[in-house]
Amino acid sequence: MSDNLTRYRERTYPPPYPDGWYRVAASSEIRPGEVRHVQCLGEQIALFRSRTQGRIAAVEAFCPHQGANLAHGRVEGEWLQCPFHGWQVDGDGRVRDRSDAEDRPVAHRHWEAVDYYGMVMIYRSARGDGEAPCRLPLQPKIDSRQFVCRGRYDAGEHDMHIIEFAENSVDFRHFSQIHAVMRIPWTSIKLPWIRIRHEPSWSLDDTLEHISYFGDEAMLELGGRVYEKTRSRALITFLGPGSIVKFDFHVPKIGEVTMFQTHTPVEPLKQRITFRWFAPRRVPRIFVSYVIGNWISQWRQDVEIWKGKIYRQRPMLAAGDGPVWKMRRWYRQFYPDDRAEELSGENTDAG
Ligand code: FES
Ligand SMILES: [Fe+2]
Repeated sequence: MSDNLTRYRERTYPPPYPDGWYRVAASSEIRPGEVRHVQCLGEQIALFRSRTQGRIAAVEAFCPHQGANLAHGRVEGEWLQCPFHGWQVDGDGRVRDRSDAEDRPVAHRHWEAVDYYGMVMIYRSARGDGEAPCRLPLQPKIDSRQFVCRGRYDAGEHDMHIIEFAENSVDFRHFSQIHAVMRIPWTSIKLPWIRIRHEPSWSLDDTLEHISYFGDEAMLELGGRVYEKTRSRALITFLGPGSIVKFDFHVPKIGEVTMFQTHTPVEPLKQRITFRWFAPRRVPRIFVSYVIGNWISQWRQDVEIWKGKIYRQRPMLAAGDGPVWKMRRWYRQFYPDDRAEELSGENTDAG
């Protein structure tokens, strides 16, 4: 895509990094005592896991002393040691000089980091770093081992702004346009004689204001007849601005699958996207693959649109378009400081 077009598109969107929890690595990629350099969210991050407690930590990659790259250093106990003159930093941003072991009266930039079901997540906020104002929710079915990890898919980088995933969830009209065609799971190959009828919905959480829900009930349609027995449900929980989204797929009589999809901006219009899913051990692998592959096939149709589109601050909405303004008002909270008014518009929703 030409740079000109990218710049043109970029100017139409809200800021690229809304406040939220972002996936920066797979937990398995950083073992105790390891460090790696991660670039995303407009930041340069040294991600390391302490040797003794196995604690994951994210600090600014460049040493507060003279700017050497800490990701080229090594982990010493709970500290990350700079390769240049040996200063050390820890996951709380404390700094000390190894030669005198005294704390320096400076705080090194750092982000709260946690392991979340196999993903390393950091909290990024425009207002500053440090402790996150909201936690990622526990998942009792995974904690109890009722659901176990059944697979992951790293989808690479895609040209889109992060808000598009939230916009998608309230764009009810596009379901009958681009998601009604059944495709062979994991592919874009159409099965033209089967169609999918969607019933989308969108709502806010009653108590946690950073959470919203997108629901999709889907049924198969053959030769113009809708088969009620094929009705399946997907509840999609936005745990923030779309940086991590949880899917609960439920197909009656067959089973349930839970999936996390993550978007991490590596550039304003470039998201690194991953999927990781969980299901009971007894649920057949072919069913799990069918459910996830179906979603991936449909998601790819969206990506084709997102990679070329701009953001309309004042879209010309029509009946049947879904609660776009309601979602944008909700989304404003992830931009506490900047340009948030551009998201919300003056119009009101019918829906
Ligand atoms: S630059 Fe890191 S200790 Fe000097
Ligand atoms: Fe879509």
